[in-house]
Amino acid sequence: MLTLSEMAVDVLTTADGREKTAKSRAYAAQWFAARAAGAPLPVGRAAPPLRPSRPDRPELLDPREVPKRKPGSPQGRIALLHAVAHIELNAVDLHWDIIPRFSHVDMPIGYYDDWVKAADEESKHFNLMCDCLEELGSFYGALPAHAGMWRAAEDTVDDLQGRLAVVPMVLEARGLDVTPGMIEIFRKGGVPSAVAALETIYAEEVGHVAYGSKWFHFLCGRHNQDPIVVFHALVRKYFHGPLKPPFNEEKRAEAGLPPDFYWPLADKL
Ligand SMILES: [Fe+2]
Ligand SMILES: [Fe+2]
Repeated sequence: MLTLSEMAVDVLTTADGREKTAKSRAYAAQWFAARAAGAPLPVGRAAPPLRPSRPDRPELLDPREVPKRKPGSPQGRIALLHAVAHIELNAVDLHWDIIPRFSHVDMPIGYYDDWVKAADEESKHFNLMCDCLEELGSFYGALPAHAGMWRAAEDTVDDLQGRLAVVPMVLEARGLDVTPGMIEIFRKGGVPSAVAALETIYAEEVGHVAYGSKWFHFLCGRHNQDPIVVFHALVRKYFHGPLKPPFNEEKRAEAGLPPDFYWPLADKL
């Protein structure tokens, strides 16, 4: 039986997307079965790679070189699903990476429950996006993708509070802002499977932002720090550029992210 950290490294070092997510889901099931049986698996220690393994395709391009397509066209809808699939695959790796990367930090077991659940959900999201792409005659890997997605992880390899601030509380919170607009695009385009998949993603991402906020506040409490001051300092240190309004204040609030966290970091209008 592998430790949780060994499972995480196995997912991170698996290149193929469908194979990565199948392992991710199977390991999550093992973790929760052991928890339910009252015999939790050890977290253990294992060295995560600096960058996760990825398939040969998609080709990874600088964000400025990724071609833009009209969102209203069939090709535009495929490009949008492809971009979301790529984000979801990165998210699978991000949620597994946080476990072995910071296993030297003593955390309550609920912290591991949360990230294993998030990784399992991201795996489901990736598969849903792949299914939608295939239904539209495409597949993950058919188009180039954004190369910069792992940067936030590399920038915060030795700072757990920085990782929580930038990944769930900035990047995943941004997902809450933009997903309703994407759902509208597929509703207008008459692609009900994509509408349903994005609605699942939208509902579950609230939880991931909430886990980030919960454990960020936990660590601030442990170190007797003011969470807002520390959050602003870490986002300015690790996130490159201002946050972009409009913000989904309602969903952000539901996820434990009050306006005084993000508004002071926003683009000045
Ligand atoms: Fe997701
Ligand atoms: Fe997520």
